[in-house]
Order: sequence, then C-alpha cells, then structure tokens
Amino acid sequence: MVDGMSDLVKPAVLFSEDEIQERILDIGRRITADYDGSDLAIVGILKGTIVFMADLIRAIEQPLTCDFLKVGRTKDRRIDVAFSPETDFRAREVLLLQDVVDTGVTMSFIVGHIQEDWQPRSLKVAALIDREDQRKVDCTVDYACFKVVEDGFVVGYGLDSEEQYRGLRYLGRLDRKKAG
Ligand code: IMP
Ligand code: MG
Repeated sequence: MVDGMSDLVKPAVLFSEDEIQERILDIGRRITADYDGSDLAIVGILKGTIVFMADLIRAIEQPLTCDFLKVGRTKDRRIDVAFSPETDFRAREVLLLQDVVDTGVTMSFIVGHIQEDWQPRSLKVAALIDREDQRKVDCTVDYACFKVVEDGFVVGYGLDSEEQYRGLRYLGRLDRKKAG
C-alpha cells in the first residue's frame, strides 16, 4: 500500500481548500434560505460525497436528516442502486448530493428511481462538480459548487481515481490518461 501510494501522480490544484469552503458556505446559505425550516432530508451518494456532505450539512442552518445511497456499476456496466430502506422519504423535501454530474446518465437514473419509489414532496440535486457541457441526458443540478469545463479528471475532497486520492484536502486535476 505504502509503495503503491508513493507511485501516485500528484494532482494539480484545481480548487484550493479555501475556495471549496467559500463555495460550500455560499451554497449552504442558499439552501438554508430556500428550505426555510421545512422537513429536509439530505441523501448522499456513496462514496464520493462523504467529505462534501460532512462540510455542507454544517453550512446549512436548519434541522435535517442524513442518509446514503450506494450507486455502482455491475460487471456489464449497468447502473446499480442500493436504496436505503430504513427511512421513509414520502412527503419529505429530499436534497440529493452527488460528487460529479457529467453526462447526467447516473443522476437522471437515480432521480427517476427516487421519484417513483420514494415519492418525496420535492427532489433537488446538489453537486460538487457540474460538467454542464458534457450532458447526454437532461439532468438539472439545482446547487452546483463548481462548474467545470476543462477536460481533466477531478480527484480529492472525497473524489477518487480507482479508490485513491479521496483524502486530499483540495480538488485536484489529473490527465485523463493517467486517471485510468
Ligand atoms: P455521469 O453518469 O456521466 O454523469 O458520471 C457521473 C459519475 O462518474 C460520478 O458519480 C463519478 O463517480 C464519476 N465521475 C465522472 N467524472 C469524474 C471525475 O472527474 N472525477 C471523479 N469521478 C468522476
Ligand atoms: Mg469513482
């Protein structure tokens, strides 16, 4: 593990710790104003949103609950969602957190499932990285921390490349070739 780590390429800084915190505070303020004390359920998509969620929930100044969804790909590349069965989201205001919305395929699939299965009163999406110009399917991001247009793979602050880099304090950029 240690040997493997020492071979890792150091990502270039895309957004610093300070820049991230500034954006999170701003989005937290907007969410606080928009939800205005209503029954807010935050649902983070594992694993990429762990750090984003930890910071964002502390920037939202109203009561909220936290749950997680695990989303992965099956061997034949289909999207596989493991829903959290213990919480009842019916008639609640659900805010879904995602690390990166790129083509929108993953997010629109999840949103479709949640609308149907949970029947929340409202459903909105907050993303750390929104690559709006890459959309292949319609997918609205209501709260975007960063809109990224450059063609690099983003890692750090919870985001991984093959499970590495999640613990970086900043958002870094890797060449797509190296990110694998
Ligand atoms: P989409 O389905 O094309 O929108 O891709 C979204 C998913 O791909 C995200 O949930 C991430 O897991 C992954 N992803 C896409 N781009 C990046 C990136 O730059 N860094 C890390 N993960 C990414
Ligand atoms: Mg990943």
